[in-house]
Amino acid sequence: MTSSTHEGRVAVVTGAGQGFGRAIARELARRGADIVVLDLDEASETVAEIEALGRKAMALQADVSDPNAVDAAGRQALSTFGAVDILVNNAGVYPFRDFFEVDFDYWKRIQAINLDSQFLTAKAFAPSMRERGWGRIVNLASNSLGLAVPALAHYMASKGGVIGFTRGLATDLAPYGITVNAVAPTASRTPGGEANIAEEVLNGVASMQAIKRSGLADDIVGTVCFLSSDDCAFVTGQTIMADGGLVRL
Ligand SMILES: NC(=O)c1ccc[n+]([C@@H]2O[C@H](COP(=O)([O-])OP(=O)(O)OC[C@H]3O[C@@H](n4cnc5c(N)ncnc54)[C@H](O)[C@@H]3O)[C@@H](O)[C@H]2O)c1
Repeated sequence: MTSSTHEGRVAVVTGAGQGFGRAIARELARRGADIVVLDLDEASETVAEIEALGRKAMALQADVSDPNAVDAAGRQALSTFGAVDILVNNAGVYPFRDFFEVDFDYWKRIQAINLDSQFLTAKAFAPSMRERGWGRIVNLASNSLGLAVPALAHYMASKGGVIGFTRGLATDLAPYGITVNAVAPTASRTPGGEANIAEEVLNGVASMQAIKRSGLADDIVGTVCFLSSDDCAFVTGQTIMADGGLVRL
């Protein structure tokens, strides 16, 4: 069944070159949205998929942790589309590194990519949502916050920040018809997941879930679509676990 829940919307999806971001961009386009693909990479395959669905796609190559690059991308997107309705802050990195090998520069780099980026993109796109009195921001968190995963303290700190930012921003933007929520996936078999997460960790995490298989890129798109739709008008500041029933809040 073709759903048109996002007809006429313009959505920015960061990190949409592959993995979760690509799956999210494709489904938002299938539901009627035009998409701004913001990624370090060209993301030409994502752009081709969106255009094949009959929607407009704009690829902007930018590092989401770079304030000037995000600012420039924001201006370009807004001058092309006139407005942005939906922001999906998906870009992120999750390299495993033992705490004793993490120096302060490395720590700051992870916070910059995973957390500062979400502040920068919200600053770039929330004013356009405020002008129209409608907006949806969806931030990618992680279920690792609820688990004893080793060598991820730097990452868990950044995603804990994402959840805190989501809660605070939800209050500040509610008066303008903008909801802000987070979605927390489990260890998943995306390109990044398969490159970063050891096979025994992927399998071990899956075995603890209620639904005993690894997550796939498509497993979070339904939640992101809900959180970015009209149906989410009275839900804000929440983190939804889309993790096969592992972590219970
Ligand atoms: N895959 C998992 O197991 C898992 C679990 C929980 C949460 N997450 C979160 O989901 C999100 C996406 O993960 P994924 O598995 O699809 O990752 P992935 O590595 O497969 O894809 C990430 C995409 O983000 C882009 N990107 C990375 N750094 C960037 C930057 N600085 N600026 C712009 N683009 C950048 C990459 O080019 C890539 O296209 C991340 O925030 C991650 O923390 C993933």
